Amino acid sequence: MTLDDFIRDQAALADAALNRWTPDATIAPETIHKAMRYSLFAGGKRIRPLLCIAAGKAVDPNVTGIENAAIALELIHTYSLIHDDLPALDNDDLRRGRPTNHKVFGDAMAILAGDSLLTLAFEVLAKLPDTSDRTKVALIAELATASGTVGGMIGGQVHDIEGERQKPTAELLERIHRAKTGALLRASVRMGALYAGATDAQYQALSSFGEHVGLAFQIVDDILDVEQSSEELGKTAGKDQAQEKITFPAVYGLAKSKEMAEAERLAAHQALDSFGDAARWLREIADLVVHRKS
Ligand code: IPE
Ligand code: IPE
Ligand code: MG
Ligand code: MG
Ligand code: MG
Repeated sequence: MTLDDFIRDQAALADAALNRWTPDATIAPETIHKAMRYSLFAGGKRIRPLLCIAAGKAVDPNVTGIENAAIALELIHTYSLIHDDLPALDNDDLRRGRPTNHKVFGDAMAILAGDSLLTLAFEVLAKLPDTSDRTKVALIAELATASGTVGGMIGGQVHDIEGERQKPTAELLERIHRAKTGALLRASVRMGALYAGATDAQYQALSSFGEHVGLAFQIVDDILDVEQSSEELGKTAGKDQAQEKITFPAVYGLAKSKEMAEAERLAAHQALDSFGDAARWLREIADLVVHRKS
């Protein structure tokens, strides 16, 4: 089985789960369900659910039903993108190759669609089938902390917005990136580990992997913003420089940023040494994160 096969199969399971858990567009109030589904099914790469599932399989190759837990990450991620694109934040017109949510549904409905995806993520975790209450609570705590204000996604977004037009320093850069993107990526592998019943040592090793992949992910996102076209990215290229964001290329330049992404990829691999072949998909996803073109 190749990574492409793995991604196709697991992304299909995740998409089917998203479809099951998200109210149908014909259910009232229809507009909000249409808006939620518009962004959910716009062709995201599903990196976070894939990391969660691959981490679960590294711990227990026979794990089942993990796609239900994995989609909570995609729900939070999609909410964060809808809000990130709002005029009050990055003010973007293009996302996942389509007009942004607020361009189609208006600001009010886009804010509410983000809110509903956020709420749905925790509903899914609270209602996970065949999962102990103890595991559900651990998953909920993990996702809530990673999405929150202290070192989590929202905290990172705050630093990102407040950093616009400020002097780009290495300290601020790392603080922004570890929080705004790194926290949710680390939570992706941690949630896979928790769902599959990881030992403390496995959880720690996977956390370390997640931190390296998380940082690599945002370094590459910053590089792609400079080097790729909007068509290739499915989102507006060159936005970071236009908005004077604190990014890896802004602080270190492109060549050094690429070296740093590669160093994080290798460190991510090292963190998986104790897993042997069970972590094959995690290693290949780390490579994909760093070598992707969109
Ligand atoms: C983009 O994330 C936003 C960041 C957190 C940098 P992805 O590159 O995973 O976006 P999709 O889900 O594939 O659209
Ligand atoms: C967004 O970072 C991170 C989120 C928490 C959504 P960016 O602003 O760099 O994401 P893109 O480049 O718009 O996808
Ligand atoms: Mg942003
Ligand atoms: Mg943005
Ligand atoms: Mg970006």
